[in-house]
Amino acid sequence: MLNDLDLKNWKAYENIITDSLWLIDKRDSSKFNSGWYWGNFIPQIPQQMMLRYTRKGDWVLDPFLGSGTTLIESKRLGRNGIGIELNSEVAVKVKELIVKEPGDSVADVIIGDSQTIDLSKVLSKHNINSVQLVILHPPYYNIIKFSDDPADLSNAPDIETFLDMFGRVVDNLTLYLDYGRYLVLVIGDLYQKGEWIPLGFYCVQRLLERDYLLKSIVVKNFADTRGKRNQENLWRYRALAGGFYVFKHEYIIICQKK
Ligand SMILES: C[S@@+](CC[C@H](N)C(=O)[O-])C[C@H]1O[C@@H](n2cnc3c(N)ncnc32)[C@H](O)[C@@H]1O
Repeated sequence: MLNDLDLKNWKAYENIITDSLWLIDKRDSSKFNSGWYWGNFIPQIPQQMMLRYTRKGDWVLDPFLGSGTTLIESKRLGRNGIGIELNSEVAVKVKELIVKEPGDSVADVIIGDSQTIDLSKVLSKHNINSVQLVILHPPYYNIIKFSDDPADLSNAPDIETFLDMFGRVVDNLTLYLDYGRYLVLVIGDLYQKGEWIPLGFYCVQRLLERDYLLKSIVVKNFADTRGKRNQENLWRYRALAGGFYVFKHEYIIICQKK
């Protein structure tokens, strides 16, 4: 079994989402608030993925840890988590926040570049050689610039390089994901010079060129992002004038390792 759900009791799991369209109004505010980090995802994403694709005690890897949402949720759900973050300031802050979270499971924050970090060393520290779930939430190309580090995917000079860097992260970790287990990618598209760039679909293509099977593409709304909150009207005008639609969704792409 991939998870702890008892299918004889399937009607009891009302909290588990099984539809491919997610309309979620709010962050799950009963939980730790990682709203301090611009570019985080809502806790419901790692929470739902862990409930579907892991059991208690399994290991989850997040190579774009950011504010640590995945590790906070893994700790709460009794899963062990390893997060890698390039930006050392952010990683140090996350380490401090995570120790305050209740729970006995491991939540390890590592500073590094997920394209090149030696994961066998990272895992051997915990006496394991594989993980059971990977959650990837990379920068959406250059929409938010996370640092000045050239290894940061948000500093890729063009889309092709971004996709190559993304591919390197995937290649670096695939060996350490158990067969039949899941890799989840959270990503959005972007709009540049009058053109919709289907970044999500390009990333899916890169995954399908590798050892992954596409299981689902979930479309999730995003409630106002901080960047656009005061610019709703401006964007509406631009959309009307420019013949395009304003972004209101991102993707949760769910793949299984073949
Ligand atoms: C979209 S954010 C992730 C947010 C996270 N899911 C959260 O809830 O806070 C992407 C993160 O990837 C980090 N990053 C970018 N390039 C990286 C790389 N090569 N290796 C590791 N982390 C990287 C950025 O510093 C940023 O914190």
